[in-house]
Amino acid sequence: MEIIKNIEDLNKFRSNYDQISFVPTMGNLHDGHISLIKRANEYNDTVIASIFINPLQFNDKNDFINYPKTLDSDISLLIKNECDCLFLPDQSILNNIKQIKSSYKSQHLCGLNRPGHFDGVLTIVNRLFDLVKPTRAIFGKKDYQQLLLISDFVKENNLPINIIGSEIVRDQSGLALSSRNNHLSADEKKLASNLYKTLNIIANKLDTLTINDIINEKNKLRDLGFSIDYLNVCNPLELSEESNYNIRPLIVAIAAYIGEIRLIDNILIT
Ligand code: PAF
Repeated sequence: MEIIKNIEDLNKFRSNYDQISFVPTMGNLHDGHISLIKRANEYNDTVIASIFINPLQFNDKNDFINYPKTLDSDISLLIKNECDCLFLPDQSILNNIKQIKSSYKSQHLCGLNRPGHFDGVLTIVNRLFDLVKPTRAIFGKKDYQQLLLISDFVKENNLPINIIGSEIVRDQSGLALSSRNNHLSADEKKLASNLYKTLNIIANKLDTLTINDIINEKNKLRDLGFSIDYLNVCNPLELSEESNYNIRPLIVAIAAYIGEIRLIDNILIT
């Protein structure tokens, strides 16, 4: 695997290949990321991954500073999973960066309590797309709102990039894999698996669901020790809350804290 740290070398590498499958990450790679690399490899084109901890998408400066850095093990995992190139830019990638403002869809779900987060995501993703010029880019469906906003952005700007959503990877308990799970104790991980259980409870009773059921499920999670950011049933294209639970598609989405650790998950019902 080639490791490239500057734009000049990336341009040289890029000029040797026609089609590129791209997996942007912030590192601290786990099986969820590896599933994206595997998905990228299904296209039999050159696979480029990037690792850049993007300060523009953090609301909390300490979160950014404390973001786990595991470069050596990330590199081993990428090599083992046949990634062809790792783009590892430094902060100079932010110089003269074009600021992107995310659409109204960032006013829902995660965007509501994380102002500016999706602007930061789109700004860096646009810059990475500009440099890597991928044929396609793969993102996890766990970050559903991110995936939707990036897909919309690419369409609106006619970028010749195919955006691919890759399935959520879960551990045996159903907990969606996330770098943040590393901050949870064994007991907290067990507790965290209740998020997926709650999503399933709601998804399985949409026919008779009432707003009170959602309130009850939130209260049950609170009793278990979660602090809830949102638990919503939404239109998956608009992300606005849906009150008619009989139409399809719908997405049931949750964000909740265990202590300081914010976890998200969703189930898409088609
Ligand atoms: O999903 C992530 O890890 C980040 O938001 C991304 C897409 C790499 C942009 O920094």
